[in-house]
Amino acid sequence: MIVKNLSDHLQLITINRPQQLNALNREVIAELHRALSRAEEDPQIRAVILMGSGDKAFIAGADIKEFMHFTPEEGKKLSEEGQRLLFDYVEQMHTPVIAAINGYALGGGLELALASHVRLASERAKMGLPEVSLGVIPGYGGTQRLAQHIGKGRAMEMILTGKMIDARKAYDYGLVGEVVPHEKLLDKAVETAEAIMKNSPAAIGLAIEAINAAYGRDGFKVESELFGKAFATEDFKEGTRAFVERRKPNFTGK
Ligand code: CAA
Repeated sequence: MIVKNLSDHLQLITINRPQQLNALNREVIAELHRALSRAEEDPQIRAVILMGSGDKAFIAGADIKEFMHFTPEEGKKLSEEGQRLLFDYVEQMHTPVIAAINGYALGGGLELALASHVRLASERAKMGLPEVSLGVIPGYGGTQRLAQHIGKGRAMEMILTGKMIDARKAYDYGLVGEVVPHEKLLDKAVETAEAIMKNSPAAIGLAIEAINAAYGRDGFKVESELFGKAFATEDFKEGTRAFVERRKPNFTGK
């Protein structure tokens, strides 16, 4: 992970595992938590931009190779810990976080963008929650926040098909605020951050808190439980193995 101050008040955090398309393992989640909490506690920092390194991905999801051999209890814990350290943490930060989606934002990657306060996309971005194609469900808040952003019907379709949508469709769905040429994405994120930073940081923090207060928390607990439950299935073992072996899974529903 690379932390860079773009100005006195604006920080860019780049997730830096390009060989694995910036997949989120526990170490990266812990590092992000540390960097974001430092930004949150620093009164000088008034906005944060999140981006993925390399040309291909924002974040291609949670690290499948890390969790594929987990037990249901470990799966549930992975989801709960991740939600606490990163996804809920970001959502509740008083320092606004802008997700600059510079490529694939899949699974945990889209979930991190959904937890952020503003989402902007490059024309090359592709977004989706493909977890059911691995025999599991979104476990970092995706079953809750996607519906909050784009409505239950569209969220249901995206999660059940596991299909990716492109940046234009994401814009039409209201999932991203703007779509810009790839090379202009960071400039657009800076411009958006500057517009935010003209306003009262105290009022911004309170506005975030008030907006978040509209949404209940029960569904997130259910999601972690069901995420763990999926780890007990044959389909989960088959789906994750098929991903690593680069073949189509043969699901049986067991
Ligand atoms: N976890 C671990 N490794 C991943 C990964 C992930 N989520 N996504 C990509 N990688 C790795 C690949 O295994 C590959 O590694 P090796 O070179 O060591 O084999 C490397 O990144 C490059 O990826 P590809 O060769 O697959 O690149 P591609 O251009 O052919 O395909 C892609 C790109 C369509 C994004 C494809 O990589 C892909 O489908 N990735 C997985 C997406 C996914 O299913 N995400 C959801 C994860 S589950 C989750 O997030 C659960 C949750 O909610 C908590």
